[in-house]
Amino acid sequence: MQAQLSYERVRQGLEDLQMSTALEALDNTLEVVRVEELPPIELVDRLLDVELKARHDRRVSTNLKFAGLPYHQKLDDFDFDAQPSIDQNLIGRLATLRFLEDGTNVLLLGPPGVGKTALAIGLALKALEAGHRIYYIPCHDLVGRLRKAIKLDRRERLLSTMIRPKLLVLDEIGYTPLERPEANFLFEIVAKRYDLGKPIIITSNKSWGSWGDILPEQVMAAAILDRLLHRSVTINIQGESFRLRQHREAGINPMSLEKQKGGNDTRENVSNPNR
Ligand SMILES: Nc1ncnc2c1ncn2[C@@H]1O[C@H](COP(=O)(O)OP(=O)(O)O)[C@@H](O)[C@H]1O
Ligand SMILES: [Mg+2]
Repeated sequence: MQAQLSYERVRQGLEDLQMSTALEALDNTLEVVRVEELPPIELVDRLLDVELKARHDRRVSTNLKFAGLPYHQKLDDFDFDAQPSIDQNLIGRLATLRFLEDGTNVLLLGPPGVGKTALAIGLALKALEAGHRIYYIPCHDLVGRLRKAIKLDRRERLLSTMIRPKLLVLDEIGYTPLERPEANFLFEIVAKRYDLGKPIIITSNKSWGSWGDILPEQVMAAAILDRLLHRSVTINIQGESFRLRQHREAGINPMSLEKQKGGNDTRENVSNPNR
């Protein structure tokens, strides 16, 4: 009778505390502990474990939706052999997520197709799995969102969206030059996150030296770079586009296709004595 009362109270308690997974697992776990004659503490341990795991998983999937990643390629699926200019050990160290704690920015530079976004996403997924909030946005989307936000008087709200997550991924900076309001906004994001010790992963096809061309003023470029680079790792990726390489290895050479399309290459005609 007493046992039955306690049982009912435990069920009610778990429900009141919104521990629905532990509640679901209660009967089964009680049975396992009884049959296997496990010490009573084992019951509490197992119930807390399933509840905490379920909460973690729920948080990860909510954060994953919020993150706005364009695809979900994990670091494990990154082919390091295909891109030997990348220091795999360095990526391994970043994957431990120490950089999140010490606010180290990760700057991925290189030409198109070499895996900058893929690595940024791989690291972002690691952070998500560990339960962190992250936010991914390509630079041109940020510009669009900012213009809209200014019209609707929501600039501050957009700024806090960029500041709140533990990790921000700013993809593809440098393809389009920024106007002054956009550059100011970028400066605020970088400066605020720097003050809070919250890192940014940036990908760009531009070297640091050319940031003056992206931003309306050299001083502003210097002010942004100063904060970005203070605690940072720069990963310069050289080499061939991953997709072009796959085409080449499949026996398709996009360059030769281009040439064939061009047809009568006049230089060749001129230099060919047999014509
Ligand atoms: N080393 C790699 N291993 C596996 N997939 C890769 C690799 N490099 C690039 N990719 C894939 O090739 C495509 C282009 O890579 P991406 O990261 O978008 O290039 P970037 O951002 O440097 O322009 C993506 O689909 C990406 O997943
Ligand atoms: Mg990219």
